[in-house]
Amino acid sequence: MRIVYVIGTRPNFVKTAPVIAALRRRLPDGRHAVVHTGQHYDRAMSEVFFEELGVPAPDHMLEVGSGSHAEQTARTMERLEPVLEEEKPDLVLVPGDVNSTLAAVLTAAKMQIPVGHIESGLRSFDRTMPEEINRIVADEFSEHLFLHSDEAIENLRAEGIAEERMHFVGNTMIDTLVALEDRFRAAGSAGRLGVEPGSYALVTLHRPALVDGALLPETLRQLGDLAKQMPVVFPVHPRTRKKMEAVESGHPGLLLSEPLGYVDFLSLIADAGAVLTDSGGIQEETTYLGIPCFTLRNNTERPVTIRAGTNTLLGLDPAAIATIPASLAKRPAKRLKPPPLWDGHASERIADVLT
Ligand code: UD1
Repeated sequence: MRIVYVIGTRPNFVKTAPVIAALRRRLPDGRHAVVHTGQHYDRAMSEVFFEELGVPAPDHMLEVGSGSHAEQTARTMERLEPVLEEEKPDLVLVPGDVNSTLAAVLTAAKMQIPVGHIESGLRSFDRTMPEEINRIVADEFSEHLFLHSDEAIENLRAEGIAEERMHFVGNTMIDTLVALEDRFRAAGSAGRLGVEPGSYALVTLHRPALVDGALLPETLRQLGDLAKQMPVVFPVHPRTRKKMEAVESGHPGLLLSEPLGYVDFLSLIADAGAVLTDSGGIQEETTYLGIPCFTLRNNTERPVTIRAGTNTLLGLDPAAIATIPASLAKRPAKRLKPPPLWDGHASERIADVLT
């Protein structure tokens, strides 16, 4: 069996690393070719993850870099097609919902190569999000859909997708978290930043709807106010950093850092008093770890995290940040059960289906 894995962004690496490892164990004589599209390329957004997660060095680097949606998608398709011609895979595996995912699925589907989509069936029902368009296309044109939560089943049925293409396997991002648990529990990243475990808010923001427009200055002002009540630790995504440079407040009270490696970041989540984010994956990691998460968006494609009791949708409204201390005071401190099949074995189940 010849498999090509196409990955391009930080969360892609986390979701795919355990799947590559499981399939390499199961099919030691198969060809396992890793294609890095280069959508993320800074060391802190890419190489660090390959090192920490033990992902083999990519066999093909497409170096597509940044650009508009059309540019990024088109460059990926153009550069991936000859790689697939050379590799002649039986299967292309792609995770998530980023532009690399969309490009890989379209390229492979047109070459009539079967595609497996990891993290299939998520829907925010908000087509202003580029990721929603990417997910719908990826699911429509993939033959094997690997679902990470049971709510995905209904979403896919509603789009007329046949049951036999759906495989409810669980969450591969949680496989990576479980595999790294000893390391991140011992990492002590909070101490190194000079904050007490349990005392601080960990913040990540990167979605265009929040950081590219007029909401960013007010969000930073609200974070400054929150920092008067609890330390605010904020590793800054490169997209956000560029936008913050234009906001001239100096961001007093915020503990800003470069993007962190995964072990350090999981250590900070596990020890946080609260997490404030617009990321998808972080809503899941906080759910698994039982950490209160506040999501600065109007919707989520991961309602399972709300049902689990850890995630609160604040809306796309910076003023709602001010409600966090009162919500925390009311919240019962107990670890809830993770959603079904978020157990560290999702990748093994993917390997079961494919072998
Ligand atoms: C992308 C995904 C988003 C995902 C996020 C995870 C799409 C449409 N968006 O968003 O779904 O949640 O990755 O991080 O695919 N940049 C750098 N260095 C890098 C990468 C990016 O400086 O290594 C800067 C560039 O200015 C670039 C901007 O960040 O233009 C945005 O990068 P891009 O890959 O287009 O989207 P993300 O915001 O990272």
